[in-house]
Amino acid sequence: MFFYLESLFLIYYSGDFCNFATYNLYRSTMAEELVIDKEAGKAEKYQELMPQLEALVKNEKDVIANMANISAALWQTFHFFWVGFYRVVDEELVLGPFQGPIACTRIRRGRGVCGSAWKEGKTLVVPDVDQFPGHIACDCASNSEIVLPIHVNGEIWGVLDIDSPYVGRFTEDDREGLTK
Ligand code: SME
Repeated sequence: MFFYLESLFLIYYSGDFCNFATYNLYRSTMAEELVIDKEAGKAEKYQELMPQLEALVKNEKDVIANMANISAALWQTFHFFWVGFYRVVDEELVLGPFQGPIACTRIRRGRGVCGSAWKEGKTLVVPDVDQFPGHIACDCASNSEIVLPIHVNGEIWGVLDIDSPYVGRFTEDDREGLTK
């Protein structure tokens, strides 16, 4: 009790009370919570999520922070098994921020679903990874996958990779929803 009162006293008299108040105001105005209707279908959830994602990243210029929050938001909304980014670095895809179990760190161009989406420059929806020649199994619990190339200034900058344990989990709704 004494220590509690003493710290309040110190905070107040050291001028940090103002910072404390500002901190609480800051906390109350941050858009830290996603508002998603749990009963909504996949397409509706993407519609609800995208403007919130935009708001989350628009004032932050650090690309790592934004990739981290985007993967967390997608994971939180859809409960994917694995969702994350790979960046093109020195002619390879290198693992970036993600949510889920540990994953392969580097993928060569044209290898696996990620390397193929990069090489072909298009989104790949793989309903059953066992049917995809050369699929890289980072985790055997993953059975379907969607990989979207990310274009920056006309070049492929990286890919967004999402995995699910369910065969046929990804459909046109995901391709459309994630492309927006
Ligand atoms: N399965 C991917 C490798 C990345 S992990 O799934 C996270 C592929 O075939 O490219």
